[in-house]
Amino acid sequence: MKILITGGAGFIGSCLTGRLLEQGHTVVCVDNFTLGSPENVSVYKNNREYRLLEADASDTEAMEQILREYAIEAVFHLAANSDIQKSGKNPGIDFTNTFVTTYSVLEGMRRCGIKRLFFASTSAVYGDRPGEKLREDAGGLAPVSYYGGAKLASEAFISSYAYMNGLDAVVFRFPNVIGPGLTHGVIFDFIRKLEKDPGRLEILGDGTQNKPYIYVEDLVDAIMQIAFAGEKGVSIYNLGVEGSTSVKEIADFVCEAMGLSGVCYQFTGGNRGWKGDVPTFQYDLGKIHQTGWRAGHTSHEAVKETLKHVVERV
Ligand SMILES: NC(=O)c1ccc[n+]([C@@H]2O[C@H](COP(=O)([O-])OP(=O)(O)OC[C@H]3O[C@@H](n4cnc5c(N)ncnc54)[C@H](O)[C@@H]3O)[C@@H](O)[C@H]2O)c1
Repeated sequence: MKILITGGAGFIGSCLTGRLLEQGHTVVCVDNFTLGSPENVSVYKNNREYRLLEADASDTEAMEQILREYAIEAVFHLAANSDIQKSGKNPGIDFTNTFVTTYSVLEGMRRCGIKRLFFASTSAVYGDRPGEKLREDAGGLAPVSYYGGAKLASEAFISSYAYMNGLDAVVFRFPNVIGPGLTHGVIFDFIRKLEKDPGRLEILGDGTQNKPYIYVEDLVDAIMQIAFAGEKGVSIYNLGVEGSTSVKEIADFVCEAMGLSGVCYQFTGGNRGWKGDVPTFQYDLGKIHQTGWRAGHTSHEAVKETLKHVVERV
């Protein structure tokens, strides 16, 4: 199948690309390199079934042209702003890179008659709902970050484009995703801070923030299994793991992986890292588990496995 992957030079996209190529697909990657980079995908550059294009996925005309020129049959839409903290100060980043990219992909698909979409959504669409086991059919979704708002708006547009144009779409609501190619997030920040000062670690909030972390290879397994299962209409899945890991536990795992002991933790206080952060959430995973898929790593295992790769690289 000829597949377009937007945001394909990013952390998850570059991993997914490898799997799509292994399975015999032709992959065209569109990325504007604001957060991803050509180095992330340099390993594929000599593959004849792979093309890397520098383009802005929020440019509807450009998207239409690419979809037509490469006779694309399915789109994996991952391009978005993944720096949630940064867009807290500039909502326009999420409007353009998280929402308008989705509109442009959908509109390009409509104009070209393409019927299959995979969309990378997020737990942030649910908003802040402590103590609740979040199900895909939960009502009253009220995101607290601009990022979550832009993803929920994207899901709504996918629903309407699917109805109006007979599109089939699989929407995955990812939890926190980590793995060898990680480029941002709490693990990355802690390693950086400890390299500068191995005796002291500033931790945003009170360290009790507690979330499920999924290993990127497990996530890609689920995408490959479910995105090609041929479901009709719009299917939404929570994608998650057994257990969760607190920020304090992550700090402990990072110190251990870096061989540091007696590090003085300095908490900035409050129960969240920044305004717009959701400090804790828990998924109901009944729907995805019914497909037979299960994550190969628990949340703690995903953190420890990631650290094996990332500590040397950062
Ligand atoms: N990593 C996570 O924990 C996580 C959690 C939930 C959802 N997601 C979603 O998964 C997807 C991939 O995330 P990631 O962690 O790989 O982030 P990433 O930043 O590594 O990848 C996103 C890619 O999109 C590209 N991009 C951004 N705006 C673009 C635009 N206008 N045009 C073209 N390319 C553009 C970036 O350059 C980057 O390469 C995103 O949609 C993200 O919202 C990620």
